[in-house]
Amino acid sequence: MNSIWVRTHIFPLIQLVFVVEIMDCRLARPSKEMVRLTADLIWKSPHFFNTIKERELDLRGNKISVIENLGATEDQFDTVDLSDNEIVKLENLPNLNRLGTLLINNNRITRINPNIGEFLPNLHTLVLTNNRIVNLVEIDPLTSLPKLQFLSLLDNNITKKVNYRLYVIHKLKSLRVLDFKKVKDKERLEAKNLFESKEAIEEAQNTPAPVETPDVSEATEEQQTPKVTAPTPEQIIAIKAAIVSSQTLEEVARLEKALKSGQLPADLKSLTDNIMIDNVNEKQDVVPDESKDTQEQSNTDSTAMEQD
Ligand SMILES: *[C@@H]1O[C@H](CO)[C@@H](O)[C@H](O)[C@H]1NC(C)=O
Repeated sequence: MNSIWVRTHIFPLIQLVFVVEIMDCRLARPSKEMVRLTADLIWKSPHFFNTIKERELDLRGNKISVIENLGATEDQFDTVDLSDNEIVKLENLPNLNRLGTLLINNNRITRINPNIGEFLPNLHTLVLTNNRIVNLVEIDPLTSLPKLQFLSLLDNNITKKVNYRLYVIHKLKSLRVLDFKKVKDKERLEAKNLFESKEAIEEAQNTPAPVETPDVSEATEEQQTPKVTAPTPEQIIAIKAAIVSSQTLEEVARLEKALKSGQLPADLKSLTDNIMIDNVNEKQDVVPDESKDTQEQSNTDSTAMEQD
């Protein structure tokens, strides 16, 4: 083989192989078109006075997956429309004091940042129709929005949960319209009755042990009923843990009743015993477990986000 032959025959072949490989790489990579929400996109997007004469920024249908750079709006808008994108988390918002309405229909939102209200002190309308909010607790972060009055969660699986509407009404005290239906006083009352005891327990959970004594004394006052075995502090903790991880509201109610009355159903007793044993076992190697726990935590976090 002379060098000219190599140049004319082998080199092109090598080049071809490279080209094919590069193309292959491109094809193998997820061809997901991802559009960044840049300042440039914000400036170029339509903004106008909407039908109710408010300043609106239209960022619809851009395949945006992450909220960012909204500081570029310089807080000049009453309404921001992020509908028809691919946003997964409602987070990373700058201080937008003027923002009253946030439209995020048709996205993939599963999580809401718990501090969202700090940045959106005047948000009164939030439309989350057709997203991926599944569990009741996932709307808890919305309690941080001090002025939220109108909320839509239509076409999220959360709406199929037992007592969904009452839960949301109970959590979001300033709400006036949920899923385009007015919140009725009757519903507020119903929600209060249903969740009041749960809230009392949550409060007790957030304060140290001594506050829990009323629970026990209450139980002793009611000692006309024969032989009440007041739960031990460990049992109380175990029941609370069970409440936190219980799947249905019925289960929560049953556990709360047990906690209040101080009488443990038989199945609960063995449950709490098990948990207590687990706790004892865990205590023996607290230090090595801790790092593992946090790691597991973040793992389960990310898998939880991806599930469904
Ligand atoms: C919502 O529920 C439907 C029907 O049960 C299911 O197919 C879908 O995967 C669920 N979506 C999410 C985000 O959980």
